[in-house]
Amino acid sequence: MTLIQEIIKNAQEGKYAFGMFNTSNLEVAQGIARAAEEKKMPALIGITESAVEYAGFLPLVNMVKAVIEESSADLVMHLDHGKDSKFVKKCIDAGFSSVMVDSSHLEFEKNIEVTKDIVDYAHERGVVVQAELGKIPKLDTSVEAGVTLKQMEKTDPNEIEKFVEKTGVDTLAVIIGNVHGMYKPEGNPRLDIDLLHNLRKKVSIPFVLHGGSGTPSEDIKKAIKECGIISVNIDTEVRMVFVEALNDFFTSGQMATDPRKVLTLARDAVQKKVGEKINLFRGL
Ligand code: G3H
Ligand code: 13P
Ligand code: ZN
Repeated sequence: MTLIQEIIKNAQEGKYAFGMFNTSNLEVAQGIARAAEEKKMPALIGITESAVEYAGFLPLVNMVKAVIEESSADLVMHLDHGKDSKFVKKCIDAGFSSVMVDSSHLEFEKNIEVTKDIVDYAHERGVVVQAELGKIPKLDTSVEAGVTLKQMEKTDPNEIEKFVEKTGVDTLAVIIGNVHGMYKPEGNPRLDIDLLHNLRKKVSIPFVLHGGSGTPSEDIKKAIKECGIISVNIDTEVRMVFVEALNDFFTSGQMATDPRKVLTLARDAVQKKVGEKINLFRGL
């Protein structure tokens, strides 16, 4: 059994979740690793295609690998939202043991076809695959929450069995009211726990919750305890504390000539936020 398979199995049996935290730089990756060490819990460090556009494939992948290698925590490098099959396969070849193939923008049968192709390629190489069924909207602060939320397509209970069976995927990202980005204060959408129960009755596959930032803690706890959510993705809240730490430093009138002085503050802020999320996901 690979480390990621073990992490998933333990979460399933223990009815807790582990976090998947995105990074595109060293300090965030280290903040995640340090939080996992401190809390003695596993975590996934996720990169996306746009993180690679920012940092470069080899610099980012080798940096994350090195952070994981040096850490005493159980950490796994994960590809998040792989929309391009060639890129997903490139990541598998580069040593990712966990990938997400995100063909949720395609129509149902095409989503099955693309996902299945990646599952076959990945499983031959011992790699775990997550897919997505339904469409998650991205809450952009420039767009009204209500407008963006209309783009949401929740996971259809009538499609889930066929999707899981035909693709052979290992874990599934379900769309149950969750959104990428922060919720607007006036329109916090809640997780549709009834739908999640309904989906759970149809399949036994472990579920993943995307868009964890800003989601009410009580909803997350319920989803984990009652319905087999074994992993929660967090990106926005980590980005926010990182930038906030830098803003706080400079607006306080302090000066730095060594970038490490301010980036240390940002890395510490990431460690604290990730630690809080890890506690929440294990039910504390
Ligand atoms: O779900 C997507 C994550 O928040 C990553 O976003 O494509 O800007 O890296 P990104
Ligand atoms: P948030 O940015 O809302 O935390 O979502 C993260 C995510 O789902 C990454 O795949
Ligand atoms: Zn996501």
